[in-house]
Amino acid sequence: MAYRFVCLPGDGIGPEVMLQANRVLMALRIGFQEQPFGGSAIDEWGKPLPHHTLEACKGADAVLLGAVGGPQWDGAAKRPEQALINLRRELDVYANLRPAVGDGVDLLIVRELVGGLYYGRRGTMEDGTVFDVCEYHPIQVERIARRAFELARSRRGGLVSVDKANVLDTSRMWRRVVTEVSADYPDVDLKHALVDSAAMLLVMHPEEFDVLVMENTFGDILSDVAAGVTGGLGLAASASLGDSGPGIFEPVHGSAPDIAGTGKANPTGMLRSLAMAFEHGIGEPELARSLEAAIDVALEKAPTPDIGGTATTAEFGDVVLESLEVPVS
Ligand code: NAD
Ligand code: IPM
Ligand code: MN
Repeated sequence: MAYRFVCLPGDGIGPEVMLQANRVLMALRIGFQEQPFGGSAIDEWGKPLPHHTLEACKGADAVLLGAVGGPQWDGAAKRPEQALINLRRELDVYANLRPAVGDGVDLLIVRELVGGLYYGRRGTMEDGTVFDVCEYHPIQVERIARRAFELARSRRGGLVSVDKANVLDTSRMWRRVVTEVSADYPDVDLKHALVDSAAMLLVMHPEEFDVLVMENTFGDILSDVAAGVTGGLGLAASASLGDSGPGIFEPVHGSAPDIAGTGKANPTGMLRSLAMAFEHGIGEPELARSLEAAIDVALEKAPTPDIGGTATTAEFGDVVLESLEVPVS
């Protein structure tokens, strides 16, 4: 199929889980190229997001990403994570969709991805005080709110907007804008929740949620919580989407230095992210469904250690490939 995927394997278990996604792309005869990114790009090219990597991503139909980071780059002047922060901004993928599914739970976290605390002003003052500012323009809030309402409408019609409006001015503006946008979506049931109690409810009653929308940092934290209550980080996938141009599809987990090189990494988060790329990135929902079905078979037949099994990353991938129904073209 004439799609152009750009794959950014990155660091730690990133390349290990990416390999399984590459096998699926090859089986489906979907073209892809690999580019350096993160810590390995710092080592090879002196920067985490080399110019040619960025240009390749801009020209792609979809960008697949493994994971970046690791202890060897901690404390260095250039950080692998900066690659991710810059790439998200460059592609303006402001809507990060992080589903959590399992055991009666079917929720979707919509994380604002290119604003908030991650992208505000920052610096060090003369007296040594260091600051990171949480900043939003109402337009940034409006566009993520609209995306969340659209998604809620296409699902079960429930939306919880998460904020800290009892303390933060950005949250009070967030709440006002989300409420204004809700007038265009009378069919969606909107509720507001404070982030601390939302975290508690996610742990105690995750089945009560449909769609949640929130600021960048809140979404980073709560999406790991949601992953934790539905089987762990090895299973969680994400899609980062803008209004046009390529999306970024990456597992929620990081480079897992504690298990890198051992063959223990669960490639489900990566493969489910590939399924999200099929659905949201290139508009091939049937391909997404058949990949998801193959992943479900592998979860049954070849679970990795993080979910109570003994299969290796490659053995999991073997079952996915055996079970994948490749469409005849
Ligand atoms: P992590 O997500 O890498 O790992 C947390 C725990 O979950 C570890 O015990 C790990 O072994 C386990 N785990 C994660 N993914 C797994 C998988 N696929 N299969 C089985 N077990 C898995 O988080 P961390 O240890 O806090 O961070 C490590 C590095 O990753 C840091 O440098 C961090 O900045 C980076 N990071 C990168 C991304 C990304 O690239 N998107 C995301 C999160 C963290
Ligand atoms: C994630 C990661 C990243 C984030 C880091 C590695 C920059 O934790 O994708 O959840 O905080 O967004
Ligand atoms: Mn995270």
